[in-house]
Amino acid sequence: MSCIFETDIKEYKLFKRGKVRDLYEVGNKILIVATDRISAFDRVLKTCIPGKGEILTEISLFWFKNTEDIIENHIETYSLEDYPAGLKKYKYLEKRSMLVKKARVIPFEFIVRGYLAGSLYKRYLEGKTNLPSGMSEFDRLPELMFTPTTKAEEGHDEPVSYKDLKKELGSDLAAYLKEVSFKLYRRGEKIASKKGITILDTKFEFGMIGDKVILIDEVLTPDSSRYRVVENGRVLKLDKQILRDCLKEREKIDGKMPDEVPESVVLEIQRAYLKIKNLLLN
Ligand SMILES: Nc1ncnc2c1ncn2[C@@H]1O[C@H](COP(=O)(O)OP(=O)(O)O)[C@@H](O)[C@H]1O
Ligand SMILES: [Mg+2]
Repeated sequence: MSCIFETDIKEYKLFKRGKVRDLYEVGNKILIVATDRISAFDRVLKTCIPGKGEILTEISLFWFKNTEDIIENHIETYSLEDYPAGLKKYKYLEKRSMLVKKARVIPFEFIVRGYLAGSLYKRYLEGKTNLPSGMSEFDRLPELMFTPTTKAEEGHDEPVSYKDLKKELGSDLAAYLKEVSFKLYRRGEKIASKKGITILDTKFEFGMIGDKVILIDEVLTPDSSRYRVVENGRVLKLDKQILRDCLKEREKIDGKMPDEVPESVVLEIQRAYLKIKNLLLN
């Protein structure tokens, strides 16, 4: 599989180079190209994960399709055939890009948690949550949790209380986004569980077009969610946790966090993402 680390589409203006995706302005639309970059702890690594952008795009498209009755999303088309003529020569765009409606991004990340994992587990161990005692990592939460954060242009996203979210967005919009986030997570969980997958938590992004709210960005991918599968009694972590664990481990040994990971980890991530895609789409 070839590796697309950075794109250079001269015909259109680069709108934004995100950590993972390159965005171009195409008329009043945006072309989102998922590259094979990978990021962790707010940094992009030098390591390329061949084919990752294609896998993520396919997974997102699957979820956009399976949630469009809950909320309208930003997809216009994802078929190179329907792209403007100037884009057709970039064959790699097939499968790893989508042409979307340009939205005003609502500057928060809408995180929904169904299980005790990640930063919530860390806070739980520190006694900073209201959850019952005696819970173990990956236990199902008594009820879904909504833990939005800011969406920092640079650096670290900070938690935002629901009260502050209401202050920032207005009560109605905040309540709507919370409700939709829960619906989206529940839909994801229902579909995934039939395929033997547990989605521990995930984050959504929303945008506005006029005064309409739509679902944007990526949906329920292993970049934006924690995925787990139990196979022959073994628990497989099939998401970016593989990368985070490797980076933390190296940091312990070398005293600083590396900006790349070995080939074995690349293959492990590739296999994990592919496995999720195959389980979901088949
Ligand atoms: N429909 C849209 N309109 C405008 N911006 C969008 C849309 N969909 C996604 N985005 C933005 O595009 C970027 C996607 O690239 P990504 O690599 O995920 O960036 P980041 O480093 O900010 O996470 C995000 O900043 C996201 O908010
Ligand atoms: Mg992102």
